[in-house]
Amino acid sequence: MTYTPKTFNLPVLQGLSEKQIKVHIALYEGYVKHVNLIMEKLGAVREGTLELDPYIAAELRRRFAFEFDGMRMHELYFAQLEAGGRKREAGSALFETASAKYGSSENFVKHIREVARSRGIGWVVVYADPQAKTIHTVFVGDHEVGQLAGLPILLALDLWEHAYMVDYVPAEKNNYIDAFFANLNWSVVEKRFDPPSPESFGEASATK
Ligand SMILES: [Fe+2]
Repeated sequence: MTYTPKTFNLPVLQGLSEKQIKVHIALYEGYVKHVNLIMEKLGAVREGTLELDPYIAAELRRRFAFEFDGMRMHELYFAQLEAGGRKREAGSALFETASAKYGSSENFVKHIREVARSRGIGWVVVYADPQAKTIHTVFVGDHEVGQLAGLPILLALDLWEHAYMVDYVPAEKNNYIDAFFANLNWSVVEKRFDPPSPESFGEASATK
């Protein structure tokens, strides 16, 4: 199988130009291409139709997470943007859980912004931990360094300079973060949190 680039319905956003989004989506498509390329090469190595130095094959396997997470993180990123954004729901399951951890929903957003000020390229990622019934907000380096194993991703904020360099200089990163929140559709983020079936909380096995 091969992966196909997804399309995103992104009309003009607030504070992020059409050119910026176009350049960024083209970059995303490059990740999809490279995921397919690595799979093709490693598949050929497995089937014996391509011979690679074992060191090179090992490097391709190591590289796969960078390309794959680069693809998947961008899909999560673009899917949560909408012109003008959409406000968070007071009392939603996500914000109740976030408030339990961070004190209030405002503090939750403040915390995401604080993590976004981390030096370096990467992402702020908010995860659900269904087992512990909580959420975690972490900085992921590149696309894959520091991802939390198996946890569903609720929110992905791209902090590579390519995400804003058409519209802002690096010193204006905060303006980009403002633009991100201005266009963030919280209902997408809440929906990612919402499917806490008993199985996803691990209660099914606990009650057996
Ligand atoms: Fe990006």
